[in-house]
Amino acid sequence: MPIVTTKEMFQKAYEGGYAIGAFNVNNMEIIQGITEAASEVKAPLILQVSAGARKYAKHVYLMKLIEAAIEDTGLPIAVHLDHGDDFEICKSCIDGGFSSVMIDGSKHSFEDNIKLTRQVVDYAHAHGVVVEGELGKLAGIEDDVNVSDEDAQFTDPSEVEEFVTKTGVDSLAIAIGTSHGAFKFKGEPRLRFDILEEIQKRLPNFPIVLHGASSVIPEYVDMINANGGKMPGAQGVPEDMLRHAAKLAVCKINIDSDLRLAMTGSIRKYFAEHPDHFDPRQYLTPARAAIKDLVKKKIVNVLGCDNKI
Ligand code: G3H
Ligand code: 13P
Ligand code: ZN
Repeated sequence: MPIVTTKEMFQKAYEGGYAIGAFNVNNMEIIQGITEAASEVKAPLILQVSAGARKYAKHVYLMKLIEAAIEDTGLPIAVHLDHGDDFEICKSCIDGGFSSVMIDGSKHSFEDNIKLTRQVVDYAHAHGVVVEGELGKLAGIEDDVNVSDEDAQFTDPSEVEEFVTKTGVDSLAIAIGTSHGAFKFKGEPRLRFDILEEIQKRLPNFPIVLHGASSVIPEYVDMINANGGKMPGAQGVPEDMLRHAAKLAVCKINIDSDLRLAMTGSIRKYFAEHPDHFDPRQYLTPARAAIKDLVKKKIVNVLGCDNKI
């Protein structure tokens, strides 16, 4: 099975009312945990790589690990650049074998976002690669945004048709209240499903992407806090909201923080129980198992993409 694009995955997900999980990968244990889970529940998969992940592990190592996972599991896997912020990084990932790239032009003006995204789409499509664009601004890694003007964060539905037509993007990331990281809401979690529904009306049969979609699973936050960590007030997107989004036009749900919490929680617990151990294989084994368990639960209970290959 070669690396696949998201085209067919999204079409089926849209029609079937479920979403594909896009999980961030940074090393072998994360890739193995995710792919072993997806393999057991027969789920299509998107493995995504950020600029930071490429810097940490190097493009070639991540590619070879993902290729090994495909050989090992036979899964249909799309390899995606997460939050590419200029043409060069998108080109480098396209030339380096990714099947999908995100060009995140959301920090630019509407016109400049269109121009940059169009440039990436032209190059990507000429190489058989699909492109995710973004309209609207999430908090977290897009912190340079004026946070006091809260409404300016959300995607403006009146802009989506023009953006999609002029850029030719294959999917669109939108801002409806999620944010990156482990501290997502100050009070009650609230997502603007009215905006999502309006976008769906204006872009029929078009795949929408939800970033910042970790649920910040309390089990792992508790495990961190019970073993020397300090994460009071950590809070994520409730799972029922994600399930609802997956039934609407959302075909790709991005999850990174939950993986980090599962890995860190299990490693902290391991060291609390075995303070004299120092073999990385000993503490990375439960960390990988925690990722596998988490991803399986996400696929079956939240995304609904099990048994879809
Ligand atoms: O949305 C961002 C992802 O969680 C990737 O984070 O840039 O720290 O790898 P990173
Ligand atoms: P979380 O921080 O909620 O996991 O979001 C990850 C993400 O959006 C990656 O692009
Ligand atoms: Zn993101």
